[in-house]
Amino acid sequence: MFQRTLITSALPYANGPIHLGHLAGAYLPADLYTRFLRLNHEDVLHICGSDEHGVPITIAAEKEGVSPQEIVDRYHEMNRSVFEQFGIQFDYYGRTSSATHLKTSADFFTTLYEKGAFVEKTEEQLFDEKAGMFLPDRYVKGTCPKCGYEEAYGDQCEKCGTALSPAELINPVSTITGNQPVLKSTSHWYIQLGEMQEQIEAWIGTREHWKPNVTGQVKSWLDAGLTDRAVTRDLTWGVPVPLEGAEGKVLYVWFDAPIGYISATREWADAKGEPEAWKTYWQDKDTRLIHFIGKDNIVFHCIMFPAMLMEHGGYVLPDMVPANEFLNLEGQKLSTSRGWAVWLQEYLDNFDADLLRYVLGTTLPETKDSDFSWNDFQSRVNNELADILGNFVFRTTSFTHRFFDGKVPELHNPSELDKETLKSIGQHAQKIAERYRSFRFRDAITETMNLARTGNRYFTETEPWKTRKENPEACANTIHVCSQICAALSIMMDPVLPGAMKNLREQFDLADSLAWQDISDHLAVPGTKIQERDILFQKVEDELVEKEMQKLTERSRKAQGHGSQGATKEGDESHDEGSVTKQPPVRENTDFDTFMKVDLRAGKITHAEPVKKSKKLLKLTVDLGFETRTILSGIAGHVSAESLPGQSVCVVANLAPRMMMGIESNGMVLMAEEPDGTLRFVETEAAPGSPIT
Ligand code: MF3
Ligand code: ZN
Repeated sequence: MFQRTLITSALPYANGPIHLGHLAGAYLPADLYTRFLRLNHEDVLHICGSDEHGVPITIAAEKEGVSPQEIVDRYHEMNRSVFEQFGIQFDYYGRTSSATHLKTSADFFTTLYEKGAFVEKTEEQLFDEKAGMFLPDRYVKGTCPKCGYEEAYGDQCEKCGTALSPAELINPVSTITGNQPVLKSTSHWYIQLGEMQEQIEAWIGTREHWKPNVTGQVKSWLDAGLTDRAVTRDLTWGVPVPLEGAEGKVLYVWFDAPIGYISATREWADAKGEPEAWKTYWQDKDTRLIHFIGKDNIVFHCIMFPAMLMEHGGYVLPDMVPANEFLNLEGQKLSTSRGWAVWLQEYLDNFDADLLRYVLGTTLPETKDSDFSWNDFQSRVNNELADILGNFVFRTTSFTHRFFDGKVPELHNPSELDKETLKSIGQHAQKIAERYRSFRFRDAITETMNLARTGNRYFTETEPWKTRKENPEACANTIHVCSQICAALSIMMDPVLPGAMKNLREQFDLADSLAWQDISDHLAVPGTKIQERDILFQKVEDELVEKEMQKLTERSRKAQGHGSQGATKEGDESHDEGSVTKQPPVRENTDFDTFMKVDLRAGKITHAEPVKKSKKLLKLTVDLGFETRTILSGIAGHVSAESLPGQSVCVVANLAPRMMMGIESNGMVLMAEEPDGTLRFVETEAAPGSPIT
């Protein structure tokens, strides 16, 4: 039914470098999918670019004392380049400060204005007197009226997903100055989402194929009832509102940014010399529009932008929004301001892009948050890429060189196992394709690796090193079959490992233009000379992993000591040394006997889980050697429960039991508190139960 696919990846803000979380959220899945469709020789266009408006940009500029344009110029280029180095293939990487975009988005606004989609309202809005500006939603933080989460943003609570307006927040503070904002009146244009409720609901009803994490969020917005949303702001940086008397007002960044997808497509068409070509992708109903985004962008792509497109008319609506959940890093939430991130450019200093594409690809947060850790990175590279895929190719090609003059042998009188193994190539290809088509990329990649596993098993079982003397025909058949698997893999793994698979195709003298449909059990032509090459993947040494871990903890320590304030979503790049902060004064003396009454013991956490309805408490199971204790500890905001098992601790073993949240706590886990509030365990290598005196 669809003749072409238009793929968009969320436009990253051009106010900071791209990190792992970005890649796992939108860009890698979008690229995997695009590459898969391209391999199928389908008509597909992948559009992205820089989101260059919004307050995050101006804040970054003020911080550095440069113009916003300078900031976006820098990061636009930096991000464009790092995507390229990671093999993320965009047909066009645009930017929302371009002339085409200014015009496209202003015209879009005008059309909606003329169609009566907006209502002008004068309202009191939060104004930061110290900064001298109205505060956009994202720059007001406070307590969520629904769930009590204290770090909720003015537009949405990230804990419970509720849509908010800044005025609903309890105890709002400006994230720019930390001041309490005041109310001041101003007038703005609102898109009448309230009146579109039914229309949007009906359309969402037709999106039955969406992922539950996406539909869930959308439904909760719809259930809460849509309300009119302002599409203009009192700011100087942005697309000027194209109306008379609207001086000093610009389009809301979330109004202009998604139009950036359209502007970028227009620029792509212009560059191609077919200025009308963009229309086919946006206005022909046979186009399938797919937005790849992270979960924090769901409402904008599933409600707001579709509503804009509906009001405008003539545009296709998104067929699919395969939003991902978040990627954590070493068990903790990624945070640029806390220095808890891996920046892609730095990654590339030490490792090949393909390795990360594979590891992230197999851990994508497709249905729930997932975790990246350097240990896992190392073990997947070493145990899977190197030991399974790399090893299989190496065994096959080096055997061919040693005993078959480097040429793919013929197949004669294949055994049942040979035939079955050859057949499994096609079976895998079909399964993998199904998974790509249903946006299950993790599974697709695992299934692809399974073919290499099958190959290895087959190689081991057929024992060509033995049959070489006893049964040369069987030996040749083994190497023939293995060559076919290598050749097929060079296409099947191509979306994930474009660099390595290009090498592999060269090695087997296969054309880059081969399609998914060309995958077969006879791609490697008997008699073809296979090139001898180095192994496909080098193993990652322990040292490198340790270095990465050090870098991470070092940076986060510095960032925390610095107590950075700006709540810009991205781009907090201040890595200056934190100043020395004072420790609290030493308490009054206590006598020896009183101190000795406290029974301190070494312990080991064996299990940890959050306590329901409590933001602070974790329920810990602590092994004291002679017994196991349940201890409640107020560290939930500091560490994740998953990271705790195995943690050594120091326990007050004779603290009288206390009931908290209906659970009895038997003891206390000692923590050291740093000046910035960071809590650290008091660790000991002593065996659980050992007295600390
Ligand atoms: N810049 C936004 C973010 O990083 C994403 C914008 S997506 C677009 O969250 F649709 F608005 F372009
Ligand atoms: Zn909430």
